Amino acid sequence: MKKVTYGLIAIGALLIVAIGFLLVNNSPESSINETAYSLDAVKSHNAAEDCWVSYSGNVYDITLFLSEHKSGLEEYCGTGDEFEEAYSGTHGSSKDYILDDYKIGVVE
Ligand code: HEM
Repeated sequence: MKKVTYGLIAIGALLIVAIGFLLVNNSPESSINETAYSLDAVKSHNAAEDCWVSYSGNVYDITLFLSEHKSGLEEYCGTGDEFEEAYSGTHGSSKDYILDDYKIGVVE
C-alpha cells in the first residue's frame, strides 16, 4: 500500500514539473526570436507597409501595430535611435509588454 502511495506522489510530482516546464517554455519571453539583424537591414524596412524599428538592442516589425496607435509612428519606420528616443521619451518602458509581441530579433 505504501509503495502505491509513494508511486502516486512521484507521478504527481513529475506531472507538476512537466506542466511547469511547458508553461515556462510557452511564455512569450522564451519564444521571442533571437535572429540577428544589422542596422542596415532595419533601415531598409522604412515604410508604413513594411516597418521595422530597433530599441534597446532588439528589432521589431511594428507594421501591424501602426494602425493601432493613434499618433503616427510611420516616421520612425527604419530607425533605431530616433524611435528609441521618441518611444522612451513618451512611454518610458511602460509599453514594452506590447512591443514584445512584435519582436523579430536582435541587433547584430
Ligand atoms: C511601437 C511602440 C509603441 C507602443 C507599443 C505604444 C503604445 C501606446 C499605447 C498602448 C497608447 C495608448 C494610451 C496609453 O495606454 O498610454 C499610446 C499612446 C500614445 N503614444 Fe505610443 N506607443 C509606441 C510608440 C510611440 C512613439 C514612438 C511615440 C512618440 C513619437 C508615442 C507617442 C504616444 C502618444 C503621444 C500617445 C497618446 C495619444 C495618442 O495615441 O496619440 N508612442 N502608445
